[in-house]
Amino acid sequence: MSLQELKEKLWKAKHLVVLTGAGISAESGVPTFRGEGGLWKQFRAVDLATPEAFARDPELVWEFYNWRRELIAPLSPNPGHFALAEIERRIPHFTLITQNIDGLHKKAGSTNIIELHGNLWKVRCTRCETTSEDLSMPLPKLPSCRSCGSLLRPHVVWFGEMLEPKVLNAAFDAISSCDLMIVIGTSGTVQPAASMGIQAKRNGALAAEINLEPTPYSDVYDISILGKSGEILPKLLCRKEE
Ligand code: OAD
Ligand code: ZN
Repeated sequence: MSLQELKEKLWKAKHLVVLTGAGISAESGVPTFRGEGGLWKQFRAVDLATPEAFARDPELVWEFYNWRRELIAPLSPNPGHFALAEIERRIPHFTLITQNIDGLHKKAGSTNIIELHGNLWKVRCTRCETTSEDLSMPLPKLPSCRSCGSLLRPHVVWFGEMLEPKVLNAAFDAISSCDLMIVIGTSGTVQPAASMGIQAKRNGALAAEINLEPTPYSDVYDISILGKSGEILPKLLCRKEE
């Protein structure tokens, strides 16, 4: 199916769910995880993004997250993020599920966002679990909770951790009630996000993918469009044929 066909389905959709991954932010300058220059090519996730790593060396883990905050803070949303915010304004019911922690969807104006993997700009107490936004940069080497003084951790999901049930349920509620799902810029390697498009399809929705290169799910989706999301998504907005 072509871009034109996706466009037609999009503007007829009653409930659209979009799932995004690192690819949507690539054109903003945020490194992806697995492609060329990907974070997990440079660093070992087990040393930096697991509960064990944090227990072993919280300063090192915080150094990594402070570095990522400094890298991402000056970056802006790209035309892909902005197009999704505009689509949200024009579709009766829209849910954006993102695996990204960079906060760029919100910066672009999207509002109904489910952040599956947390948020780089939020911190959580390791003892009382108080969660708050903290934009200060850099955070102290070992930041502490304002309520109880215990060590804070990044409010992100690490390898080996469960997603927050409330967040996961909200995502699956949306997936089970949508009639169109578009999966954008994710390699489809991390569960449960990886199988969400298939789940939507099983529930009767049409499933589409926009990605720079084919993924393990490309053949299963109804529509697979190869290219940059920052170039393709704005094209969905103009109603004329291309
Ligand atoms: P990956 O780095 O695994 O995949 C990024 C995908 O985006 C690849 O399939 C690229 O082909 C595609 N891509 C790159 N540039 C693009 C562009 N301009 N337009 C469209 N597509 C593009 O990132 P994720 O799938 O998001 O988890 O990774 C999933 C999770 O793994 C992340 O949320 C993170 C990571 O470990 C946690 O930190 C818990
Ligand atoms: Zn606390």
